[in-house]
Amino acid sequence: MAERDQELRQAAAAEIDKYKEEVESDPYRLLFHHMPPVGLLNDPNGFVQWKGTYHLFYQWMPFDTGHGAKFWGHYTSKDFVNWVHEDIALTPSDWYDKNGVYSGSAVSHNDRLYLFYTGNVKDEEGNREAYQCLAVSDDGVNFEKQGVIAELPEGYTAHFRDPKVWKNGEHWYMVIGAQSKDLQGKAVLFQSENLYDWKHLGPVTGSLENNLDEFGFMWECPDIFELGDQDILMVSPQGLEEEGMNYANTYQSGYFAGKLNYEKPKLEHGSFHELDRGFEFYAPQTTLDEQGRRILIGWMGVPDQYEQAHPTVEKQWVHCLTLPRELTWNGEQIIQKPVNELKEMRGPALIHASITIENDQKAVRGIGGRATELNLEFEQIEDQFAVELFQYAAISYKDGILTLSRPHLENREKTEFRRVELPQGLRNLHLFIDQSALEIFVNNGEEVFTSRIFPQPEEEDILFTSLGESSFSIEQWKLSGFT
Ligand code: FRU
Repeated sequence: MAERDQELRQAAAAEIDKYKEEVESDPYRLLFHHMPPVGLLNDPNGFVQWKGTYHLFYQWMPFDTGHGAKFWGHYTSKDFVNWVHEDIALTPSDWYDKNGVYSGSAVSHNDRLYLFYTGNVKDEEGNREAYQCLAVSDDGVNFEKQGVIAELPEGYTAHFRDPKVWKNGEHWYMVIGAQSKDLQGKAVLFQSENLYDWKHLGPVTGSLENNLDEFGFMWECPDIFELGDQDILMVSPQGLEEEGMNYANTYQSGYFAGKLNYEKPKLEHGSFHELDRGFEFYAPQTTLDEQGRRILIGWMGVPDQYEQAHPTVEKQWVHCLTLPRELTWNGEQIIQKPVNELKEMRGPALIHASITIENDQKAVRGIGGRATELNLEFEQIEDQFAVELFQYAAISYKDGILTLSRPHLENREKTEFRRVELPQGLRNLHLFIDQSALEIFVNNGEEVFTSRIFPQPEEEDILFTSLGESSFSIEQWKLSGFT
């Protein structure tokens, strides 16, 4: 519906205009993380490199800081540092996507860019329908909707969404996040020869022990890809109970690694491994770029987890995406590292020093700031070591456990914690701080903590505390941000 599409585009543009000054005046706005121009941003979508350019779309609700009938916003970049905010890619303008152009993916084929997404439809009583849809582009900025390409198979509720498409051998495959009629989370596979006609292959089943059955009531945003000698099934399950240090957020994101038999379809796999240990991380998506790198971007938010308590809501926007991370397989697990290109954002090194602290808290001259990259390499931690960020959050290590703490977003009197065990100890902390976004890469990417932080805007001090003796080297760069 071209007319409805135009109306929605104009309404979204008016909304951006209306709140532009307010959003821009927010001290928590970000310099090198993708945030919405106004309203709510959630999942990264359609992440792909096409004809040399990276395309990164995002779930966008322009009219509210809550969820609703989503659009696809669109960024492009050739180098992950210089970004262009393109025109809106897709609006919820048609009968099959009128309540949201939901999450999906992109592939390049015969010079054209293909976007797959879920059309979310609700009737007057709130009953849901889900359609898998396609839109195609010749120029990478104008997308022509092709309508519905796959309907709901038997055995599932209408929670059936987030198509991720890729090619394996001769065939195209699509994996969809689903809920079975008996309320179990599933990843459902389809196969195609031409990207338009899709054959339902069935749910990916698991190995006998460690079964993929009974692992949450819904799986969102699945992704299947090869990494090293492994097939990875990445998924965002909903409904896992907190278990020790695991599954501490409202919903999780992680992966099973193993071997996928596409015919059955069946995955021989190990146990579920959480991708991130921070407060805000969900719905990641990967792409294989033209250099053969597997790159992941996630949403720095969690559905239903105090989203309206983020202080940016007052300024008419909420949430952002993570930095792009290169994934590798180290023989046992996925390793995540910020892509190399991000070094282009660095100013000259502000400091490079070796430091020893014994039973003391110290500021290090020159260390601080709110748009900065910090790398710490540890030689020794005798007892306990902590980095305190802006009198707000703290990263502390003791007895093989790394903890990130911050005030509870709904009740600042309370402190919340997220933790992970580091069986080999703490060797390295690599931090990216961007006003109100924090990404902590631990032990060269073995673990990551992704979180929003909301210290007082003028607060710039980073302090180091040690019980017993700690020695480490520290390097810091001021970051210029995306251009
Ligand atoms: C995940 C998700 C997806 C859905 C989209 C809607 O955060 O719920 O399953 O497609 O967000 O915005």
